[in-house]
Amino acid sequence: MEWTQEMRYRPYQEWSEKYVRELKTNVEQSKWRLNYHIQPETGLLNDPNGFSFFNGKWHLFYQSFPFGAVHGLKSWYHVSSTDLIHWESEGAALEPDRAFDSHGAYSGSALPVGEALFLAYTGNVRDQSWERHSYQLGAWMNKKGEIKKVAEPLISEPPAGFTAHFRDPQLIRSNDEYLMVIGGQTLDEQGEVLVFASQDLVDWQYRGPMNIHQDLGFMVECPNLLSIEEHTVLLLCPQGLKELDYQNLFPNTYILAEEYLAETNNLKNPQKQQVLDEGFDLYATQAFTAPDGRCLSVGWIGLPEMTYPTFGEGWAHSLSLVKELTIKDGKLYQYPVEETQRLRGSQETLVAEANETFMKQTANSYELQLEIPSNCQGSVHLFSDSINEKSLVLSYDTKQGKVWLDRSKTDYPLNPEFGETRETIVEQGESLTIAIFLDKSTCEIFINEGEKTLTANYYPTEEQTYLLLENSQKCRASYYSLSK
Ligand code: FRU
Repeated sequence: MEWTQEMRYRPYQEWSEKYVRELKTNVEQSKWRLNYHIQPETGLLNDPNGFSFFNGKWHLFYQSFPFGAVHGLKSWYHVSSTDLIHWESEGAALEPDRAFDSHGAYSGSALPVGEALFLAYTGNVRDQSWERHSYQLGAWMNKKGEIKKVAEPLISEPPAGFTAHFRDPQLIRSNDEYLMVIGGQTLDEQGEVLVFASQDLVDWQYRGPMNIHQDLGFMVECPNLLSIEEHTVLLLCPQGLKELDYQNLFPNTYILAEEYLAETNNLKNPQKQQVLDEGFDLYATQAFTAPDGRCLSVGWIGLPEMTYPTFGEGWAHSLSLVKELTIKDGKLYQYPVEETQRLRGSQETLVAEANETFMKQTANSYELQLEIPSNCQGSVHLFSDSINEKSLVLSYDTKQGKVWLDRSKTDYPLNPEFGETRETIVEQGESLTIAIFLDKSTCEIFINEGEKTLTANYYPTEEQTYLLLENSQKCRASYYSLSK
């Protein structure tokens, strides 16, 4: 089916129930549907939005185009949870049904205020000549889950000197005020992170672009300012970066600093910007500090402008597991929250003898915890067929301190023009631990308890159900089947 602009932006009520029913039937037949990750019922999912804890539950929303696997007229879809791993569908939340969000209820965040949850999002509007206008909008969700949009925009235009690529407000409480941190672009196409402040969520004052003094590409999307322990972390999605080594079309990055100084609108002693995830598919990570003090994040497993084989099945993408962000020895760590262990079935210990291939058939839904000794070379073949012709290969050399992922051995190559391998560097000559969370057509890999992460989609054939281990030294692994 050819997706015309008219179809992408067709009002939701004009899609027939029959069309949606048939789409759903199609999607349900996919062999790549996930077991324990959040995925769309139909259509395309992208950024996580409004991740929060309110009224005794975790709330998460995501960017959704429910009518096909394309970027079209976006809305917020709502899911909730009591344990961060089992998510219940709460249905559509913010639909593009007003003049200020006519062409999409774009990304944003949520903050509990009094007895309600305040949602801040971007209204995307295209005028008669298809020119973009962006509004920062608000909505209140009450304890019954009813949502009421605020009639007037919180911020009705980008500040002078900035283009309409002005979006993805992150709302936070900082000292005695509310701050809104928004992605922006200058008229001469430089990315910036814009800060606004308010006492009452109604009247918003512009504080200016955050003084970052680093390459932020030609545009910034999805900025998130976080306090983690005694540090500040800025997460962001800068497009068109020149001063950073990465292979994905667009990276998700972070800047670690001592603190955010509101008076001067800058980060104190910022480190150099780094890539948040060294795999193939992670973008638009959103995080917040939960009432229990943990800083929790979730990302979109997917990237803009890439093609995936589920497009033909009418659905695409998922959200990552919920990860806890911590700082150890001045470094950012990301690891699935402890609650993830509740997905575990029984434990099995796998022993791979030196220079022998260990092989196990699986349901492609498991957690694998590996311990790799120092001075060891080896690989784990995920989604392998029985003769190991096709698989997603994670290799390591602990002597050299290198870990790399290769997804070229497949019937479904994924955007090979951006390279089919990714590499990460760890301490030379040290042992390492690898945790792998594999789910039908996606995989999240955590090195040394989250010191490094690699997220990757991979689409196996029905024969690719094996797990293989090959090592130059004897290695042990714990294997847990995972299910909801
Ligand atoms: C990032 C993004 C955001 C925007 C949303 C639209 O993936 O482009 O900047 O708000 O997706 O779906």
